[in-house]
Amino acid sequence: MSNLVQELTQLQQDALAALAQTTSTAATEAWYADYLGRKGKMTAILRGVGQLDAAERPLVGKTANEVKVVLEAALQERQAAMNQAEMESALAAEGIDVTLPGRQPQLGKLHPTNQGMREIVAILGQMGFQVFDSPEVETDDYNFGLLNFPPDHPAREMQDTFFTKEKDIILRTHTSPGQIHAMRRYAPEPIRVILPGKCYRNEDVTARSEMMFYQVEGLAIGHNITFSDLKGTLLNFANQMYGAGRRIRFRKSYFPFTEPSVEVDVDCILCAGSGCRICKYSGWLEILGAGMVHPVVLANGGYDPAVFSGFAFGMGIERQAMLKRGVDDIRLFYSNDARFLARV
Ligand code: DAH
Repeated sequence: MSNLVQELTQLQQDALAALAQTTSTAATEAWYADYLGRKGKMTAILRGVGQLDAAERPLVGKTANEVKVVLEAALQERQAAMNQAEMESALAAEGIDVTLPGRQPQLGKLHPTNQGMREIVAILGQMGFQVFDSPEVETDDYNFGLLNFPPDHPAREMQDTFFTKEKDIILRTHTSPGQIHAMRRYAPEPIRVILPGKCYRNEDVTARSEMMFYQVEGLAIGHNITFSDLKGTLLNFANQMYGAGRRIRFRKSYFPFTEPSVEVDVDCILCAGSGCRICKYSGWLEILGAGMVHPVVLANGGYDPAVFSGFAFGMGIERQAMLKRGVDDIRLFYSNDARFLARV
């Protein structure tokens, strides 16, 4: 047998052994160039064909073809195995653990002011109060004069009120002017209305005060409305808003549009009256202002004070939300910090 045939057989053995050692696509490509490439070992062996007898050549050619077929098939098999192994190790390295719990999508929720507003409106609504919309941009008269503010009352001063370029047109500083709108709309029918909405005050922004904030005003007018009705209504409100068994306390106060006027406290929702940091060791938290509607205000609204009486109250919504949700800085409400909004 020709030497060349032996060499080719040997080449096949060596090549198969070398192929078995390869572990990467790059290595199999190098292997191919080394054995079957144009400058490879097979080509080198076949260069000797020219020196052979014509009779020997066909066998060498046939053997070379067979070796080539065997090696190419082996290469394909090797590469398929390697691709599979590479894919498996890539998957393992990515470390996808299909048993892990899914990521929680962030759910949007109501702003704490809206939560507070809805709670308050729901509680008072169930007591028969209807929501009445009134404007945020007011006349000086509605905001002050018709509510019995004396002309020199300090609340009218520049530092409290946002004025507009138009004479006597201002941003309301409280929801109380809505009382006049509601009365003029319904007099002489008895009414129970609540007036929720934005208010504006030209004040320094601090942990306790914002330039823009929300209030809810309540107003009840009828033939026999007494101070006891006010007390019962607010006690019921406090029990639903801050928990069953809550007590309230009235302190005498002054507002131009009510007489008598009171400020109302609820026993501290944190320490239940024993004294803590939140209630400044007083046991009480102030929640709102209230009183019996002043006869002048009744008359300005179109009700005869000799026939009608009424009570009114007004509260800051952020304040209720702060007490209920343990927020100690009103500025957080309108600074768009998503972490705060998600927490409360
Ligand atoms: N308007 C008052 C304020 O902004 C709050 C208030 C007090 C409203 C007594 C009332 C009331 O209706 O009777 O400070």
